[in-house]
Amino acid sequence: MLSGQPIIILKENVERNHGKEAQRSNIAAAKAIAGAVRSTLGPRGMDKMLVSGSGDIVITNDGATILSEIAVQHPGAKMVIEVARTQDDEVGDGTTTAVVLVGALMEQAEVMLEQGIHPTVIAQGYRMGMEKALEITSSLALKVDPTDRKTLIKVADTAITGKSIEQVKGKLDGIIVDAVMTVAEKNGSKYSVDEEDVMIKKQKGQAMDDAELIRGVVLDKVRSHDGMPVKITKAKVAMVATPLEITKTQVKAKIKISSAEQINAFSEQEREALRKLADSIIDSGANVLLCQKGIADAAQFYLAKAGILAIEDVPERDMKYAARALNGNIVNKPEALTAKDLGTADLVAEDDDGKVTRISGCKNPKTTTILLRGTSDYLLEELERAVVDGTRVVMDAIEDGTYVVGGAAVETELLMKIREYAQTVGGRVQIALEGYAAAFESIPRTLAENSGFNPIDKLVELKNVHAKGKKNAGLNVYEGKVVDMLAEGVIEPLRSKRQSIQSASETAIMLIRVDDMMITQQGGKGAGAPMGM
Ligand SMILES: Nc1ncnc2c1ncn2[C@@H]1O[C@H](COP(=O)(O)OP(=O)(O)O)[C@@H](O)[C@H]1O
Ligand SMILES: [Mg+2]
Repeated sequence: MLSGQPIIILKENVERNHGKEAQRSNIAAAKAIAGAVRSTLGPRGMDKMLVSGSGDIVITNDGATILSEIAVQHPGAKMVIEVARTQDDEVGDGTTTAVVLVGALMEQAEVMLEQGIHPTVIAQGYRMGMEKALEITSSLALKVDPTDRKTLIKVADTAITGKSIEQVKGKLDGIIVDAVMTVAEKNGSKYSVDEEDVMIKKQKGQAMDDAELIRGVVLDKVRSHDGMPVKITKAKVAMVATPLEITKTQVKAKIKISSAEQINAFSEQEREALRKLADSIIDSGANVLLCQKGIADAAQFYLAKAGILAIEDVPERDMKYAARALNGNIVNKPEALTAKDLGTADLVAEDDDGKVTRISGCKNPKTTTILLRGTSDYLLEELERAVVDGTRVVMDAIEDGTYVVGGAAVETELLMKIREYAQTVGGRVQIALEGYAAAFESIPRTLAENSGFNPIDKLVELKNVHAKGKKNAGLNVYEGKVVDMLAEGVIEPLRSKRQSIQSASETAIMLIRVDDMMITQQGGKGAGAPMGM
């Protein structure tokens, strides 16, 4: 019954790209995305200014940020952007590297397709290449002890250089490492770190080098009543999740009670109930109260009279941070509060600008806060992105206890070793493997180019030095010399390199295997919109 007539299975508004056309389109898309971020790679990479339709401006050097801000429609381009997102989620750094690598893998594939090598063969070669690359990369890894502050600082430095925050690098790296080391938890012989436990707060107004590490939390709130102290030393902090209020009428009385007469505005009964609530805080021995909900005026008055610094409407997230930092418990009812629920801190104090309260000097805090300062929002945001990258790589290095050498040392080793390996394979797959190996040239080339050096000369130099067995040789991007990157202290977590190799390869393999694209037209939008960058 199926003979002869074609069967139509697609709706009319489906655009269809077959064979070569589909491949060409995906290759072009991947190259375009890589082209959009390649100029930012490395410490001497340039920044990009992104302007949204509504006029918001972002100035950044961060690959993941750039790609999350630009709108693309091409499905192949979207998949490449996904590589950056995965890299960012899993590792927190190495996004540009991963994207440049996909672009290069697709470029190599293009050459091979033109030579008539079948996509399946290319995909097979790439898969073999990826496995070899991961194996070689892991074999190049060095070990770092999670308490080795000096080495971890170098890991942080490598991630934050070139992010337009150069002048404060020497201060921030220490803050980052100390913050992460403080919250790292040891389980058996392994360490684990929860990213959430390092809170980053931004405060506009001061210079970047006023950044601080606070062993505690910073709340965007201040005391609820003027009669309360602005500062408490040797703080004992009560944390309550429910309101210190009794009925709705209490909320209505929006007067701040500062005298004994005004308190008479409340009924005897109400006053008695509020006094009891306040007393349960006072009796616990607390001198600071963090309340997730509101505190009735009368209760505030009693707390103030007792010399307690109380803050109301503290967001739930901050309450949780505070509990972890201060080693205290959040109680549901004030009545249930006991002395052992109280958290402790050396100091609870309102900042001079009267906008934030800092809780600092906590013993064994399970969360820490990095307080960033800067004169503009753009700067603060880029500073934050750098600190997030730095924090993430230090976490990776602490958790895995491994790192590799940067400055294109690993990539140079890979491109040479995989080429050698290809020769042992033979056949058409050998060509695919050679193409895979050649894609790694994109990293040293781009690093050299972005630093103002001749990419071809530097690549040749790197290869020559590696051929002599110098595995750690990489490019000093400031002087253009090929040097030992380990001695230079340019190191990165193994996890970052492995992830960028893996996700770039897997995406390239997936894209190469596509030889038919069926795109449903929605709202008149077509695929393959050109990217302007
Ligand atoms: N001081 C340095 N000298 C040479 N290369 C460096 C230095 N610091 C970082 N790199 C290299 O720059 C690359 C990372 O650049 P970056 O712009 O951070 O991109 P990514 O988004 O991939 O992390 C890595 O290859 C890293 O080894
Ligand atoms: Mg980086």
